[in-house]
Amino acid sequence: MFKGHRLTFSKTMAYPYKCALITGATSGIGEAFSSLLAPNMQLLLTGRDESKLADLQERFDSEGHLVSTIAADLSHKKGRQAVLEVAKGFPIDLLINNAGLGAYGAFTEIEPTREMEMIEVNITAVIELTRSLLPAMINRAKTDNKRSGMIVVSSTATVMPIPFLATYAATKAFERHWGEALAEELKYDPVDILILCPGATRTNFFRRACMDDSILSNMEEPEVVARKGLNALGRHTVYVSNGPARLALSPTILPRRLITAGLGYFMRSKR
Ligand SMILES: NC(=O)c1ccc[n+]([C@@H]2O[C@H](COP(=O)([O-])OP(=O)(O)OC[C@H]3O[C@@H](n4cnc5c(N)ncnc54)[C@H](OP(=O)(O)O)[C@@H]3O)[C@@H](O)[C@H]2O)c1
Repeated sequence: MFKGHRLTFSKTMAYPYKCALITGATSGIGEAFSSLLAPNMQLLLTGRDESKLADLQERFDSEGHLVSTIAADLSHKKGRQAVLEVAKGFPIDLLINNAGLGAYGAFTEIEPTREMEMIEVNITAVIELTRSLLPAMINRAKTDNKRSGMIVVSSTATVMPIPFLATYAATKAFERHWGEALAEELKYDPVDILILCPGATRTNFFRRACMDDSILSNMEEPEVVARKGLNALGRHTVYVSNGPARLALSPTILPRRLITAGLGYFMRSKR
């Protein structure tokens, strides 16, 4: 039986994984993961923004890091297949399912295409990439007597239904439930699984979701979230990055209907 290990991630310490695939590497938390890991391991980075990927490639090349990129839209099957095709050429032992998007507004008013894009990126891509890559990652880890790892970037939005972020919050809840179940299924295999639940983080997420981020307090920087996530991998199954937001995952004595109504009131007032 393999046991979970403890690690402390720092710039001076070798990271136990050797090659990571990071989705959503072109911005925010994914870019922060890339910057932290590039000095420690080989990376395959993906996102849609080709010029940002080229910038990252140039920067990491100039720093002497081993980084490759592939531009792909994960909301389309073709994009997901393109990433998987390229990933075949890499001995990936760390998968960071980070790409994601939200949409703020009334469900009946958000464009149906945006709703479907959220489901494709936040759910379908996570399932497809993980199902394709994880078995080989585990087998390689067994053969090499090492460990593999997976981080799923979920959210503190997982604990309650959130009116006006209805589909987004539900996709993040899906990731958390699915990831926790998987971690239990695979607990005797050499794979560390972490469901990282950031609270509000200062990235492009809110602008893209058409949401005013001034309503949020205690925003964390993406570098802080990514660093905490890397530290938590192998130690926790679910990790909430934002201090006060930890409360959001604690069991609540309030009826669910009351919480939903309170959140609905708050979110509606910000429209
Ligand atoms: N910011 C927060 O407060 C917060 C809180 C909790 C959880 N999260 C989660 O954190 C993760 C990262 O978000 P972020 O805050 O760093 O936001 P962000 O700055 O907007 O970054 C999102 C990343 O996802 C990629 N992405 C979006 N749609 C894509 C698509 N169709 N195909 C391929 N890649 C796509 C983007 O790539 P391109 O730009 O190249 O398209 C970008 O790299 C998400 O899963 C989000 O749900 C964020």
